[in-house]
Amino acid sequence: MTETVFTYGTPALKFGDGASAELGYDLSMLGARRAVLVTDAGVAATGAPTRIAAQMGEFGVEAVVFDGVHIEPTDASMQAAIDWARAHGPWDAIVAVGGGSSIDTAKAVNLLLTNPGELIDYVNQPVGGGQAPTQPLLPLVAVPTTTGTGAESTTVCILDVLAQHVKSGISHARLRPTLAVVDPELTMTQPAGVTAAAGMDILCHALESYTARPYTSFDRKRPEQRVPYCGANPVADMWAERAIGLLAGSFRTAVADGGDRAARGAMAMAATFAGMGFGNAGVHIPHANAYPIAGRARSFRPSGYPDAEPLVPHGMAVSLTAPEAFRFTFDAAPDRHLRAAQLLDPTVGRDGGPDTLPGVLTALMRDIGIPPGVAAVGFDEGDIDDLVEGAQKQQRLLATAPRPVTAEDLTGIFTRSMTLWE
Ligand SMILES: NC(=O)c1ccc[n+]([C@@H]2O[C@H](COP(=O)([O-])OP(=O)(O)OC[C@H]3O[C@@H](n4cnc5c(N)ncnc54)[C@H](O)[C@@H]3O)[C@@H](O)[C@H]2O)c1
Repeated sequence: MTETVFTYGTPALKFGDGASAELGYDLSMLGARRAVLVTDAGVAATGAPTRIAAQMGEFGVEAVVFDGVHIEPTDASMQAAIDWARAHGPWDAIVAVGGGSSIDTAKAVNLLLTNPGELIDYVNQPVGGGQAPTQPLLPLVAVPTTTGTGAESTTVCILDVLAQHVKSGISHARLRPTLAVVDPELTMTQPAGVTAAAGMDILCHALESYTARPYTSFDRKRPEQRVPYCGANPVADMWAERAIGLLAGSFRTAVADGGDRAARGAMAMAATFAGMGFGNAGVHIPHANAYPIAGRARSFRPSGYPDAEPLVPHGMAVSLTAPEAFRFTFDAAPDRHLRAAQLLDPTVGRDGGPDTLPGVLTALMRDIGIPPGVAAVGFDEGDIDDLVEGAQKQQRLLATAPRPVTAEDLTGIFTRSMTLWE
């Protein structure tokens, strides 16, 4: 019997300029007295975390700042944050101020402060043990400073598992933040390179969840088998469509002129909407491919990010195989691919085909300075087998693709994504 039920969940949301100034009140309403504020050095340098910590104090909530988050966190960096939090606790709430790196690190800290075992026990199979938390977590308030991941509303925590050279995730409803506070003012200082990469993450969240396998095509689940990612569904579709429309009017401007408040506000809303969509529907091939690209970075140093070590930012890694992934999935849902292309570029006609969405995507990627393919971030044809093997470990994501994906299909997508344009 096929599925007849879909689920939908989000945290409470506070959105708008100045929203982060109310955090002390919000935490006091949750009964918090002592919170760890998790952030990274780049965000700490903007002054926002110390300002937010001081405002929390005004409401009787002591905030202690941990600014040691690693950009694109690893199992080792998350363990260091967990160790720090254990040594400096006890805490009764957790606040994350930063991009997905800080929010995901805060989720891992929250999980291991409240539940037994090791981080790897909870990482999705086959990379980790796939265990579910048994104990309730602390209240987590997530305050994004990038316009990208939607991590403030999702049940997912992404990490690079160093020994296996692959990114993977922990996914469970208990990881979802209690409250998302989205304050576009905090995003004004995002460097252009971060705005471009994180913005491609928003766009791919919306496009992948919109083209995901519909929830009605899965086998019927028992209640205890239900997972947060349940496939494309009418509620997630609505958020995805709105997110793509907002990006169409703001993305190029936000990258070219970071001081444009209207563009920054629209990007923040697009990130929030896309997060509320994909966080329930799921993502598929571009995200599965991104994990080995990011996990195997060895030479690329993107502008706007810390340059201590090579990295391919998550949103950039996702975007690099997106045009070819959507060419591959077109036949599974032509109307949806064309509708998405039209939302992103209203000049596109109704008589398009498999090339339409890839064409609109690569035009945008060129305009905002995304590298022209997988080769441009340090890979060559000799890496394809390893990249395919890493993508195949993301079975949770590939299962949401609108058509079955074999190793041969992934090889074709990576090969054609080496050089997207000359
Ligand atoms: N949990 C989820 O649902 C989810 C979804 C997508 C991605 N992710 C993960 O999130 C991470 C990427 O997060 P991200 O793209 O938000 O960026 P990030 O947190 O990695 O930050 C990127 C860079 O931008 C800087 N920065 C952030 N905000 C700034 C601001 N306002 N002003 C100045 N500098 C600022 C940071 O210091 C850092 O150098 C990846 O690890 C990815 O796997 C998680």
